[in-house]
Amino acid sequence: MNLSTFQQNCRDRVNHNLTQTLNALPEHSETLKQAMKYALLTGGKRIRPFLIYALGKMLSVKEKDLDGPAAAIEAIHAYSLIHDDLPAMDDDNLRRGHPTLHIQFDEATAILAGDALQTMAFEILCDYPLSKELVVKRIELVKIICQASGYNGMCGGQAMDLAATDQHISQQQLQELHDKKTGALLSACVEMSIALSTDVTSQNRQHLMDFAKTIGLAFQVQDDILDVIGDSEVLGKPQGSDQAQKKSTYPAMLGLE
Ligand code: IPE
Ligand code: IPE
Ligand code: MG
Ligand code: MG
Ligand code: MG
Repeated sequence: MNLSTFQQNCRDRVNHNLTQTLNALPEHSETLKQAMKYALLTGGKRIRPFLIYALGKMLSVKEKDLDGPAAAIEAIHAYSLIHDDLPAMDDDNLRRGHPTLHIQFDEATAILAGDALQTMAFEILCDYPLSKELVVKRIELVKIICQASGYNGMCGGQAMDLAATDQHISQQQLQELHDKKTGALLSACVEMSIALSTDVTSQNRQHLMDFAKTIGLAFQVQDDILDVIGDSEVLGKPQGSDQAQKKSTYPAMLGLE
């Protein structure tokens, strides 16, 4: 199977699972449910699920055991994007080629949709069917996503990002900010696949975590570069947003080259 077919399969698989989870929600708050669908099912590269399934394949983990982590990480990611776009944060109006959620709906719905997607991630991890011998790993998966998304991970990094706006910070501080706001969730993908494998030596685990940290940093640096040289049409989000907001980024600190 070539890489792009594999990537497409990962996207289809996580999209199918997320659609099923959302469709199963009762209708008592229809606007909130529509907003959650809008955030989760309107595009996205699904790079985090791809990492989970690719690592899992390499480490002989069954695809069905990876379905919960893949869906859960996308729910957390979608929540992080909704809140990231809010007026109180990056104040952006375009995401994945569509109006951001607070513009399509309203701010209160955007806050609640983010909250509900976050808790949905943990519900997925608690409920999804795992192979019998891996059931004991469920709490470890929950802990990995907790640590990667909270104070020690994405939220802490987002706070550092806001604090660094229109400020001079060191390159080391910028790296820490990137490692937390973006790297942590990407590392969690690798960590969850490792957690579900019975086939990883401690040395290989260290290599894989080094890989995860490096690819996480590269991913945010590239996102910052695309904010400078990309095209809003292709990116599906506003080019130049970082400069307009005076964000601390690698291109702003070190120059594009
Ligand atoms: C965007 O993430 C936010 C960052 C952490 C850079 P992605 O580039 O993975 O966004 P989607 O899911 O493909 O829209
Ligand atoms: C995203 O960083 C970090 C998140 C945790 C959502 P950005 O603010 O650069 O992401 P985009 O460019 O809006 O997707
Ligand atoms: Mg941001
Ligand atoms: Mg942003
Ligand atoms: Mg960006």
